[in-house]
This record gives sequence, structure tokens and C-alpha cells, in this order.
Amino acid sequence: MISSTMQDALNAQINLEQYSAQLYLAMSAHCSGKSFKGFAHWLTVQASEETAHAAKLIQFLLDRGGRLELKAVAAPPKEFGGVIHVFEETLAHEKSITGRISALFEQARQEKDHASEIALQWYVTEQVEEECRIGEIVDHLHAVGDQGGGIWYLDSKMGKRGRS
Ligand code: FEO
Repeated sequence: MISSTMQDALNAQINLEQYSAQLYLAMSAHCSGKSFKGFAHWLTVQASEETAHAAKLIQFLLDRGGRLELKAVAAPPKEFGGVIHVFEETLAHEKSITGRISALFEQARQEKDHASEIALQWYVTEQVEEECRIGEIVDHLHAVGDQGGGIWYLDSKMGKRGRS
């Protein structure tokens, strides 16, 4: 049986993963509104991944006999500025998620909750991959800038996510 403190912490993380999906859907719509369909597609795929992250945690919580407490998901911002800013914000958001996962992992260790620790290892690894992947996108965007042909080339590349 999972502790009530770990149950609360996992429920909070589930809400955060759902917020991440909301945030990336809003960013996707923002990019789409600027005709950057490739960046929009990439962010929609990312939103689906976040929903999957929440679902995986929900299943783990239920498998441990925990109680799912879904809460209202916060509304994301409405304005994001240029594409570079969108991805800088994405990276900043992922770094904050990494901090939350680390805190959860630490809590599992302190509670000697080995099952949660092992389940959370997947998220620790996932955060390394996400920060790396998004950091590269930010670097590429800084290299080409918000104007000119380079950003449209990147847009077409981003549009291939999950399609090749
Ligand atoms: Fe669910 Fe992007 O971390």
C-alpha cells in the first residue's frame, strides 16, 4: 500500500503532467497561428507524450492501491511571443518538471518506497532526454534566428516528428 504522502505527491505530479499537455497544446495553437505548422505539430506530439506520462503515473498509483484525485488543470498563458521564446519557455518548463521529479524520487528514497523509486526512475531518464532534445531545438533556433529561411527549414524538420 502506498503512503498517503506519496499518494498526494503522485496526484500532484499527475496534475503537473496534465498541465504540461495543456501548455504544449496552447503553444502548438500559437505556432499554428503564425503558420509554423511544423513547430505546431512537434508541440502537439509533445502534448500527447505528456498525457501519456500522466496516464502512466495514474496506472502506477492505482496498481499500488492508491486513490486518484484529479484536480482542475491550470490554464496556460495565452501569449508566447516568437518561436524562440516558445521553445525557451518549453525548456524552462521541462527544467522545472525535472526538479519536481527529483524531489519525488528523493521522497520515495526517504520513505523507503522502493516501488515508487523504481517507477520514478523512468521519469528521471525521460527528463534527461527531454531537456537534451529541447535544448538542441533552442540552440538551433538561436543559430538561425526568428527571421529568414533558416526558421522555415527548422519548421519543416520539426514537422517530421513521429512521421518518418
Ligand atoms: Fe512529462 Fe515533459 O515531462
